[in-house]
Amino acid sequence: MSNETNPAVTMATPGYGERLGQAVSQMQYLSEDLRAFVVGLLEVLIHLPRAVLGDTISPHSHITRLIRQTTLPKVNQGSPVAIVTGANSGCGYETAKALMQAGYHVILACRSPEAARQAMDRLAIETDLDNMEFMALDLASLESVKQFCDQFQRRGLPLHLLVNNAGIMNTPYAQTSEGFESQFGVNHIGHFVLTMLLLDILKRSAPARIINVSSVAHLSATTVDTTRLEDVGRYSRLLNYSVGKLCNILFTKELSRRLQGTDVTVNACHPGPVGTGLYRYTLGMTRMKWLTDFLLLSPLQGALTTIYLALSPEVEQVSGEYFFDMAPHYPSPAALSEKEQKFLWNYTVEKLIPHIPLAADWK
Ligand SMILES: NC(=O)c1ccc[n+]([C@@H]2O[C@H](COP(=O)([O-])OP(=O)(O)OC[C@H]3O[C@@H](n4cnc5c(N)ncnc54)[C@H](OP(=O)(O)O)[C@@H]3O)[C@@H](O)[C@H]2O)c1
Repeated sequence: MSNETNPAVTMATPGYGERLGQAVSQMQYLSEDLRAFVVGLLEVLIHLPRAVLGDTISPHSHITRLIRQTTLPKVNQGSPVAIVTGANSGCGYETAKALMQAGYHVILACRSPEAARQAMDRLAIETDLDNMEFMALDLASLESVKQFCDQFQRRGLPLHLLVNNAGIMNTPYAQTSEGFESQFGVNHIGHFVLTMLLLDILKRSAPARIINVSSVAHLSATTVDTTRLEDVGRYSRLLNYSVGKLCNILFTKELSRRLQGTDVTVNACHPGPVGTGLYRYTLGMTRMKWLTDFLLLSPLQGALTTIYLALSPEVEQVSGEYFFDMAPHYPSPAALSEKEQKFLWNYTVEKLIPHIPLAADWK
């Protein structure tokens, strides 16, 4: 589905994301780290009026409209099925809630059973529904990702929506169980393996949609700088997050090409600056939760683009695109580079060889 044939995407006009990208590329006099910080700061300032005053049309109204407009995939028995990673908090929680209300059976794929149980209690109270369940998934362990997929496959369920939402940001240096730098490992590698292991089920259940939650932070990464991923001395909390989020879009674009003709779409999105636990490693923001709640968008505002991509008939045929504020936008030139998309794919596959048996269509 190319931009030429896709009416939703040909409507994309350069907006603030593009202008932000251009502004950042001109800040050559700043270090890469400082540029990444400036992107975050500008992003917060741009959205401040929405955060403080709210939206003209409330997110609830959008969600009610999307639920009314959506056509649920047809299934022989039971409900259509959605998996949301990191559904116990923030944007993932709001996404899971809207999908339950739309009629999906939602699997909350979370690393903490206790956090998932608390989220499910809240979801039950807030929706009066019980079409959800918890399945354990730790994206920092490929063994856990494999177990999750094996267990899901044994259930014989279809899969119509995979929302790769979980993420970590600005964390101190750490490694996943397999030795990947943790922001890259959780935000990209874990989701790459999860998606690839579920791909046959998605294809069999088509029409199906995959959504990769990326970030405007990808603008700060001009390339997949593998030295940052492999050399602890080059690790930067901010830039390694940016690289991981660039990977989310590069993966989306390459996967979309590989999925042509399958009726499985894949799109990426940016939620906006949202007041969630994601900021726990940023400028002591946990201690200033009142400030992030005030200055940043609500988790519901942040989840809106993901929910739009999951439910809207407008994007039924759209694949390989990057959205925010429920509209298609141009990501950075690096994200649009086919060479970079293929480089990331090959690099990922090569790094996975020692850890996981790869099917032929992964290569
Ligand atoms: N908030 C923003 O301003 C913003 C901006 C741009 C993009 N995003 C993206 O939006 C997505 C959702 O983030 P959020 O803002 O809603 O933050 P959040 O509330 O912290 O949610 C992140 C979720 O990811 C889960 N997670 C972290 N590590 C995991 C792992 N190893 N395995 C499985 N799950 C794991 C967390 O689980 P625990 O609760 O157990 O930690 C949590 O449920 C992320 O991909 C983020 O990069 C957010």
